[in-house]
Amino acid sequence: MNNEFANDVIKGLTSKNKHLPSKYFYDNAGSLIFQEIMEMPEYYLTASEFEILSSQAKQIIEAINFNQPFNIVELGAGDGLKTFNLLEYLVENNIDFYYVPIDISQGAMDSLIKSLKKKLPKLSIHPQVGDYFEILSKKNVKTTIPSLLLFLGSNIGNYNEQEAINLLQLFNNSMKNGDGLLLGVDIKKNPKKIHEAYYDKHGITKRFNINLLIRINKEFDANFNIENFDFYCYYNPISGNVKSYIISLKDQKVQLKKLDIVVDFKANELIWTELSKKYSLDEINELATKCNFKIIDHFLDQKNYFTDTLLIK
Ligand code: AVJ
Repeated sequence: MNNEFANDVIKGLTSKNKHLPSKYFYDNAGSLIFQEIMEMPEYYLTASEFEILSSQAKQIIEAINFNQPFNIVELGAGDGLKTFNLLEYLVENNIDFYYVPIDISQGAMDSLIKSLKKKLPKLSIHPQVGDYFEILSKKNVKTTIPSLLLFLGSNIGNYNEQEAINLLQLFNNSMKNGDGLLLGVDIKKNPKKIHEAYYDKHGITKRFNINLLIRINKEFDANFNIENFDFYCYYNPISGNVKSYIISLKDQKVQLKKLDIVVDFKANELIWTELSKKYSLDEINELATKCNFKIIDHFLDQKNYFTDTLLIK
């Protein structure tokens, strides 16, 4: 049994304000639902970042201005689709670099490598399967050639202010002077636009959340009756926080046999599942400066919805 998951579920469901961390959304079923989310027109983040990395690859690489060769280290590469255009630009221009995708999922890595080998046979790939926290914490991560780290897709949004600082400082500590970090961040915008992306009318984001209960049923022999739970989320345009919740629709008890607990729910009680934080450009600058980065540039899409911000240590 996955011990960290078990501990987090026990801790999260027995505390006063119930909470389940969003990182557990991504079992096989959840990863497929997330792909459905990325295909929704309302979920503008995917198309915006895709546009940035396909139309501004040249500008980004020129701004970082490395002497070749260098590494491109992608943290949480996933299916790597958003990075493809950047890699393609580099390969087509005979730029000498190594692509180092890091991902926790062996399955995702296998399919990424397979598709890249087919589409970019000249690409030099050095994959690492594992938790990027652990990989970056190792002492020997510093190579002799410069590196550009990629942390894309607005994954930084899942971290609160202090956690985001800790994470960027961890990145910074594993970097050499002159190394770069390309950080994908969703920008504060018309709150309605953000609301529609997360409280989607198709109910896909609801399924994404409820799947976590189904996962807990499977992995911990629990008896969540998913008919008795609903989904709610809201965006606070001042703080920039989208917060997602699962709602208990009635008074009920749920047994998690393998964890040896019974959880009591009151009608309308919430389980907080996810933070998806949005930033202004000023807030990004402030965060980056706190973590000892120099801001080189913000690369935005045409609608100014999303930024891939280039930072240098
Ligand atoms: C993968 C964390 C960037 O927060 O926008 C999508 C996950 N949650 N819809 C995000 C998600 C609800 C996504 N991240």
